[in-house]
Amino acid sequence: MTESTKNATLTIDGNSYDLPIYSPTTGPDVIDIRKLYSSAGVFTYDPGFTSTASCDSTITFIDGDKGELLHRGYPIDQLASKSHYLEVCYLLLYGALPTAAELEDFEGTITRHTMIHEQMHNFFRGFRRDAHPMATMVGVVGAMSAFYQDSSDIADPRQREIASHRMVAKMPTIAAMAYKYSIGQPFVYPRNDLDYASNFLHMCFSVPAEEYVVDPILARAMDRIFTLHADHEQNASTSTVRLASSSGANPFACIAAGIACLWGPAHGGANQACLEMLKEIGTPDRIPEYIARAKDKDDPFRLMGFGHRVYKNFDPRATVMKQSADEVLDLLGIENNPILQVAKELEAAALADPYFADKKLFPNVDFYSGIILEAMGLPTSMFTPIFAVSRTVGWISQWKEQFDDPQQKIGRPRQLYLGETERNYVDVENR
Ligand code: ACO
Repeated sequence: MTESTKNATLTIDGNSYDLPIYSPTTGPDVIDIRKLYSSAGVFTYDPGFTSTASCDSTITFIDGDKGELLHRGYPIDQLASKSHYLEVCYLLLYGALPTAAELEDFEGTITRHTMIHEQMHNFFRGFRRDAHPMATMVGVVGAMSAFYQDSSDIADPRQREIASHRMVAKMPTIAAMAYKYSIGQPFVYPRNDLDYASNFLHMCFSVPAEEYVVDPILARAMDRIFTLHADHEQNASTSTVRLASSSGANPFACIAAGIACLWGPAHGGANQACLEMLKEIGTPDRIPEYIARAKDKDDPFRLMGFGHRVYKNFDPRATVMKQSADEVLDLLGIENNPILQVAKELEAAALADPYFADKKLFPNVDFYSGIILEAMGLPTSMFTPIFAVSRTVGWISQWKEQFDDPQQKIGRPRQLYLGETERNYVDVENR
């Protein structure tokens, strides 16, 4: 925590209260209201936390107006073009880019943690085959607390580190197993000779009956999807992980809570919802109808893959993802894909419409990631699990940071109560 540089003064009923202001290394100043209730007897009201910082952090910085996303100071477009997912994982977890020796050591550690406890296979088999893979993942990741008790003691820094490595390493295995189970194919064990993204594709697409050769362009595109989703500061699922962790819950339970939050269509579920929407639109001639629906106040329909709580200009991840989508479709020779056609024309129609411009609604990363995953042959139900695989390192880095924070307390928001005041119970026969 930095020293306060100036104060804000709040006046209530003629009484003034000084509130310290902190200046971050970059971004807007923050008013410290922690002592407000004890000194002034009032709460602040901020549903959706649109103006509230819940912690201090050194991991990720976003400037939504400029369309800027930095991990430990490095711009996301540089990381997406010059780095790769496991190096970004190291950066997020440890705060600096690794040396060649540190990277080799880290990659070796992650690679050697990719298998899951064999008994967990039975756990998978308890689910219905038609379960959504996110449902399976919430359950299986929560169950890791039962299988990896030797890294559940959060008071021990070494156990916390092992839990971090286990989470990053095992998540692709768990997501791929959830997929294989849903299509009735045998589970595929991880391979240590493959890089992180290639190994994931191998576990999703190979079958024992024939050899599967991973295409390096597809592996690169998958690695980019992982990299672009790796962290996004205090978003809904990360805040969920931090809140769950603030009670002292074990890391596997906290990440399961993050997965549950990510599932929703306003967050990680948007990539699945976006592709389903593009399929529902079907042909470009129906685009005006859907644009009209998105603008209609009486219709709950929203253009999926458009808009963002923080980015109000453009989503820098979407720019890289769009380029990746073009590369993958080119490689796979998909030129006249009707969904892609709808996506391109919908994007152009929305960007030209004053409604979307006035409300600063632009395509977000999920608008393009779904197109890539569809082209690779993954079903829409796997889009959000892949997001969960990518974001695990962000969740776990933020979880790890919490332990070094002396300000850390159990999270406990207050409320504006608008219910009944005290009243006496009435016996049922007298109501
Ligand atoms: N389509 C049509 N109108 C929209 C959309 C949209 N996608 N998004 C926002 N609006 C409108 C709202 O109706 C609202 O209009 P109003 O001011 O007339 O009431 C205005 O824009 C502001 O919207 P809010 O919901 O207040 O903005 P908020 O910051 O709370 O929501 C969110 C952001 C949830 C991402 C929203 O834009 C949305 O639902 N988008 C579609 C889902 C999506 O793509 N989510 C992915 C987010 S990125 C990620 O998780 C990786």
